[in-house]
Amino acid sequence: MSEKDQILADLERLRAGFRERFAAAKGEQALRDENAKILGKKGELTAILAKMGKVAPEDRKLIGGKTNELKGEVEKAFNDALAALANAKRKADLEAPPFDLTLPGREPAPRGHAHVISIVRDEIVEIFEAMGFAVFDGPEIDTAANNFDRLGFPPDHPATDMHDTFYTTQGHLLRTHTSNIQVRAMSSQKPPFAFIAPGACYRVDNDVTHSPMFHQVEAFLVDENVSLAHLKGVLAEFAERFYGKGTPVRLRPSYFPFVEPGAEVDIGCVFCKGAGCSVCKHSGWIEVLGCGMIDPRVFESCGIDPEKWTGFALGMGIERQAMLRYRIPNVGLLFENDPRFLEQF
Ligand code: PHE
Repeated sequence: MSEKDQILADLERLRAGFRERFAAAKGEQALRDENAKILGKKGELTAILAKMGKVAPEDRKLIGGKTNELKGEVEKAFNDALAALANAKRKADLEAPPFDLTLPGREPAPRGHAHVISIVRDEIVEIFEAMGFAVFDGPEIDTAANNFDRLGFPPDHPATDMHDTFYTTQGHLLRTHTSNIQVRAMSSQKPPFAFIAPGACYRVDNDVTHSPMFHQVEAFLVDENVSLAHLKGVLAEFAERFYGKGTPVRLRPSYFPFVEPGAEVDIGCVFCKGAGCSVCKHSGWIEVLGCGMIDPRVFESCGIDPEKWTGFALGMGIERQAMLRYRIPNVGLLFENDPRFLEQF
């Protein structure tokens, strides 16, 4: 048989069989595979065409024409079969029993939960609410007067420096602590009162224990005859409820412009129970917050009579309490929002 007749016979065999092959293909992928076996780069029709070189030049036109014709037929049959499959699927979908949109989902969808900073904040607020403190809110952007001056900071105090404070427009800043809420509450409320004020604060500060944005909780109480003993009682109650029964508390004299006397509060190290470890630098104590008796000058700057009223204030960093409570080594973990970290709370 001549090369020409051989090719014509091959083409004829292919033409006789391809429709059946498409019809036998089950599903779209099988159909596409079958199509590739014929028209693909290594397909049967392509293989036939490769033999063209051996055909006498005068016969090439005939064979080329027949090949193209067959190629067109195969392409059309393939596209028809594809469309028929899609139609059948659509028909089956339409005829299937209706989908019940009211059914509950099968897998319980994963739910998020509060961030560890929010968890700790809420817990602290609840402890103070149980002692009779009410929540008081204040803005994160405030005047330098409410954040510094009326709290008794002298104008050249280092905290008021650009290196420590983010200033916004003239006379305004991102509050550096929640003590601005003391000023606002004392200027607008009549004593006696007791408030707890949580919120975000900002300082130009960034290392393993400091973040430029952080959170504090401020608590303050104003009444007649309030003494340091009341403050210590509240602190002992807080330490016991937040850090556990029997957690010892001590006050160390310290200085804040808006309290007199002022103190820093240590609790017995929650890790070594006072025996000495690396967290407490072998002192057995860990510093947790600042506090003191409200300075009479602060009362005066807020329009409260310091002869009649006395009070205490305390402020603590929420991140610090969270880090101590959960042994979080780096404050950055609280802000990176890596789900592997967050899921642990
Ligand atoms: N505002 C102080 C600070 O940010 C904390 C503090 C609050 C100290 C209230 C005393 C009384 O460091």
